[in-house]
Amino acid sequence: MGHPLFRTKNIDKILRDAETMADDPHAGAGLKRVLTMRDLTFFGIAAIIGAGSFSSLGLAVFSGGPGVVVLFIICGIACGFTALCYSEFASRIPVAGSAYTYAYASFGELFAWIIGWALIMEYSIGNIYVAFSWSDYFTSFLHRINIHIPDYLTCSYMEAHGAVTAAAANASAQITNSTQELLNAWNHAPMIGGLRIIFDLPALIINLCITALVYRGVKESRNFSNAMVMLKLAIVFLVIIVGGYLIFHSGDTQNWHPVNQAGVRSFMPNGFSGVMAAVSGVFFAYIGFDAVSVLAEESKNPQRDLPRGMILSLVICTVIYIVLALVLTGAVVYSKFENVGDPLAFIFEPQNLNVGWMQMLVSICAVVAMTSVLLVFQMGQPRIWMSMSRDGLLPSVFEKIHPKYQTPSFSTILTGLIVGIPILFTDKTFVLDFTSIATLFAFVLVCGGVLLIPKREKLPGKFNMPFISSKFLFPSIVIASIVFAHVMSKNYFSNLFIITEDNASFNISTIIFWNVMIILSVVTFIKNWSLIPLLGLSTCLYLLTGMTGNNWAWFGSWLFLGLIIYFSYGYRKSKLTVTT
Ligand code: ALA
Repeated sequence: MGHPLFRTKNIDKILRDAETMADDPHAGAGLKRVLTMRDLTFFGIAAIIGAGSFSSLGLAVFSGGPGVVVLFIICGIACGFTALCYSEFASRIPVAGSAYTYAYASFGELFAWIIGWALIMEYSIGNIYVAFSWSDYFTSFLHRINIHIPDYLTCSYMEAHGAVTAAAANASAQITNSTQELLNAWNHAPMIGGLRIIFDLPALIINLCITALVYRGVKESRNFSNAMVMLKLAIVFLVIIVGGYLIFHSGDTQNWHPVNQAGVRSFMPNGFSGVMAAVSGVFFAYIGFDAVSVLAEESKNPQRDLPRGMILSLVICTVIYIVLALVLTGAVVYSKFENVGDPLAFIFEPQNLNVGWMQMLVSICAVVAMTSVLLVFQMGQPRIWMSMSRDGLLPSVFEKIHPKYQTPSFSTILTGLIVGIPILFTDKTFVLDFTSIATLFAFVLVCGGVLLIPKREKLPGKFNMPFISSKFLFPSIVIASIVFAHVMSKNYFSNLFIITEDNASFNISTIIFWNVMIILSVVTFIKNWSLIPLLGLSTCLYLLTGMTGNNWAWFGSWLFLGLIIYFSYGYRKSKLTVTT
């Protein structure tokens, strides 16, 4: 037997435990099985299309130009391979818990805990970003219908403080409308004992409403979510059709190869590094397909429907994103997207395509889209904690099911608090980066986990990941990539070793990336691993090279805190401590 830190849960035992829970005669012991494949696909889309496309896309376009489409394709591929890995696990272990449960069966308890801990970033901290973006669109919608909330109740304290500090440091800089609102918030905020009262009230209120809805139960939430998804898809299609029509009608497609600061026309005006700098924002737009996997215990046929729902929602959203990014960058030159937080409405403003009614519709759509994202993530978090609690890694109150509503009541309220309290003192950029790095990390472990679980016979009627031998293929792909990088830029590899303050994090992580690829090639040659999880692992690792040193430092601290909690509670209380 290995070290207790790496004790794994037996897949048959996981399934038996879940069945015991479902058969428990006490009312409310299990969750209701009500979700079909269509519901799961809708849940996927509800979780995926949100603040990433409606808000952070502006920043991504400004950084990468039209070339950001390439990053959407790379992220789509990375998430596609990862979705196949999730599907393989979901078909083998159809119980709630998502990547956490999968890691418990493959890597062992320590990694399972780490994943569960990282997923708090994806589900709860990610929702803080969505709540802030929801509030941005909601207040600008109110503005359009002449309802005004004081500025100090519509932004975060940190944003207002940051704007004042920046304005003081650069008094001659031009002040945009959004900066002016932050300065107003600071200057007009009421004070209590020397502290300015500045917080995002709509973000807090939407969090409260969503928490209450999730607490009431999945059936009500499902109907609500499905209706919102239909509406948001309809309006996203409208943006694409109206925007696309106007671009081609004007006959002006110059914005797809704009002039950069050096006066050169290019699809990637800031080079590939500009495209990669947008990775947090673009990847954030894809987060959510994996949330489908936490609904295993509420779906009617999880082994067939979870994989289909996950992959279908991802494919639909990838196509939408690529077309949407093309419409945005074709409609307005990339350089105008600086500090634009509502890019989809922005392209229809008078100085751009000038379609007033579309601005209004997009504002409403954004509010709807982000509400559905909040709902899905707020449902996902308690279900992960519930699984961790069942395993003894968290106190039993986390798995407590409400006798009437049959939802994890304590965990749902705690999620509401974890999203709500930081709304008072964090800001958008910080939570965006934090969420993306933690989610990518979890995806890496899921893809790696599939490589470690034993092969099985194909089962009819269930998802079976195709095995593609990579003994020669994967090392060949790695060698071809190295040659390609060298051909594209003769100094690519030598430049990685010229480390400056600005590029240190990118260069160091890229050097580590290529070394890992070489090691993986050797191991794959020996073990003949399956190609799909290997490609998922490699593409997610590649996306991690876009994270800054600051992101890594915060994420490292978060993991460290998680380990302290694990060793002081979970390690001793784990159910496997008793049985091993
Ligand atoms: N993908 C989700 C969003 O964009 C998290 O809001």
